[in-house]
Amino acid sequence: MIKVVTYGTFDLFHEGHYRLLQRAKALGDYLIVGVTTEAYDKTRGKLSVVDSLVTRIENVRKTGFADEIIIEETAGQKFSDIKKYHIDIFTVGSDWTGKFDYLKDYCQVVYLERTKNVSSTMLRAKKWHIQRIGIVGTGRIAERFLPEAVAVSGISVQGVYNPHQESARRFAAKHGINAYADMDELYAAADVIYIASPHETHYAYIQSALAHGKHVICEKPLVLERAQAEEVFSEAKKRGRIIFEGIKTAYCPGFHKLLGIACSGKIGNIRNVEACFTKLEETNVRELTDIKYGGSFRELGSYVLLPIIKLFGVDYADLRFDSVLNEKGLDLFTRATLRYPYGLATATCGLGVKSEGRLLIAGTKGYVIVEAPWWKTSYFEVHYEDAGIVEKYSETFLGDGLRYELSDFLARMEDRDNGDFKLTCQESIALADMMEQFQQQQNNALKGSLYGKD
Ligand code: CTP
Repeated sequence: MIKVVTYGTFDLFHEGHYRLLQRAKALGDYLIVGVTTEAYDKTRGKLSVVDSLVTRIENVRKTGFADEIIIEETAGQKFSDIKKYHIDIFTVGSDWTGKFDYLKDYCQVVYLERTKNVSSTMLRAKKWHIQRIGIVGTGRIAERFLPEAVAVSGISVQGVYNPHQESARRFAAKHGINAYADMDELYAAADVIYIASPHETHYAYIQSALAHGKHVICEKPLVLERAQAEEVFSEAKKRGRIIFEGIKTAYCPGFHKLLGIACSGKIGNIRNVEACFTKLEETNVRELTDIKYGGSFRELGSYVLLPIIKLFGVDYADLRFDSVLNEKGLDLFTRATLRYPYGLATATCGLGVKSEGRLLIAGTKGYVIVEAPWWKTSYFEVHYEDAGIVEKYSETFLGDGLRYELSDFLARMEDRDNGDFKLTCQESIALADMMEQFQQQQNNALKGSLYGKD
């Protein structure tokens, strides 16, 4: 009996897939089809898969060509499957020609002519219009956004707006996109507005974008006051538009694995979360000179509060801030301490003080530890009372991570994701509320004597 194996995602099952399976089956007597998991596709940068694994398997099964369907979940699995299933022929479409020649030592490798003019990517583009993105702001984060946007199919960055037109022109020329002279030009060219401007300008830009019927992706912190957050979310709901707060960690696959493990019961009941993120900055940067809106908490607070609200929720009993200020009154270092009915948490961040950036989640049976950069989660460990037992977990983190946020945004827009569970609007509102409480405390501190003065 000749055994054949082939692999694929088989998303939005189409004629090309059908013909491939038909010819694969004809190569032998028994056909095994490997269907990729979503997690594996994510690791290889395929972020826009629409159909669930169950649907994709069902579609392969319905062709009647597969004698057996297996799951492909890791790189390197093809080699072991060939051994395990005693495969005679490995086959895939000609778009892969040469890529699997390394398997020729173990079985015959056949590249079948790819069916012309059809692919899952083409079908996705046909089903959902390409979302045109217009950027507001030309800072460092906007710079990082562009290469990440390229990695996600279904979106296209059209251009950029900055009230300082020269900055917009420079940025646009560097990245081969348009520079818009005013917001009307931006709105005419885009379906989605990505707001990457200074924190204090977010609120007005979000309001304006919604009023023009646009969806919004906004850098963290979304806004700096609870009432502003409530207002923009309610307005978005009224208008059937999405507001997506861009805390990239919230969308990163490793962070989700981490939340799942932390809540699995392995470490018992979670009683303490400590998150720290520090980044030393030159003293002349906006973050350390903008008296009103600079400082480390506004810059990094969203990151360190994220794991706390994801694990403990937003109903804390008590929140207190302690800061070390510079001579201008800006916080170089801030620690937020939160007390929950059954747990404690600290969120620490600094732009002028360096500390060990780590995330520690302590429970009644053990703890999870993630070293820096935990906000780009790719590896973490679970430890127990018995120091000899250490469980290690890893997950791919591609590029700068914004691609996960973008692909989740697209899924939300196309209504193929389960809502905003990765970062809910209640969580974004709670974060805005904490920003506001921080501001109030800072106002009070500035009225009295400064502490921790440089
Ligand atoms: N295939 C084919 N002809 C096509 C499309 C795909 O023969 N027009 C083959 C591929 O070469 C592969 C299998 O079908 O062997 C599964 O491919 P998959 O990557 O799932 O489909 P694509 O349509 O290529 O998906 P995408 O556009 O997302 O890359």
